Amino acid sequence: MNIRCFTSSDAQQVIALWQECGLTVPWNDPQKDIERKLSVEADLFLVGELEGRIMASAMGGYDGHRGSVNYLAVLPRHQKKGFGEALLREVETRLLELGCPKINLMVRTTNQPVISFYEGCGYTKDPVVCIGKRLIPDGDPAKR
Ligand SMILES: CC(C)(COP(=O)(O)OP(=O)(O)OC[C@H]1O[C@@H](n2cnc3c(N)ncnc32)[C@H](O)[C@@H]1OP(=O)(O)O)[C@@H](O)C(=O)NCCC(=O)NCCS
Repeated sequence: MNIRCFTSSDAQQVIALWQECGLTVPWNDPQKDIERKLSVEADLFLVGELEGRIMASAMGGYDGHRGSVNYLAVLPRHQKKGFGEALLREVETRLLELGCPKINLMVRTTNQPVISFYEGCGYTKDPVVCIGKRLIPDGDPAKR
């Protein structure tokens, strides 16, 4: 897998990847998520490609206190071959280079396979509750 930074021409393939991996939800607009990411730490938005086709993604972030990883995805037919962990390690390396001391990330409590994946990669559950407030409504208002 070749890992590189996302470029605007990747958007269609990346959104298709997220859809195939079940990461798109009615209350998030993937196109807007991409546009916002390109305006903040775009170089932490990575894609993985095999034979010129995008088959993996990871959207890293760093706020000066904690790092984050969103949209970690590997196309189903390429899963369980080590690509997800390799991409996660690349985000970790880049965050470490920025001086980031810890990554906090969110996984839906119903997504036990992915929790197991992260635990296998050295992550542990923290005793915290994730609290959120939406500032900009996205997606289809009927499904929000
Ligand atoms: C999470 C995801 C990116 C993992 O990618 P992957 O390429 O399949 O993972 P890897 O092959 O690198 O797996 C690394 C380790 O995690 C383990 N693992 C991977 N998927 C697992 C699963 N479903 N259950 C248990 N362990 C799992 C692997 O067995 C491997 O351990 P090993 O080295 O001891 O064999 C991939 O499953 C995915 O795209 N899921 C759908 C999207 C998603 O939900 N993303 C997370 C959003 S929060």
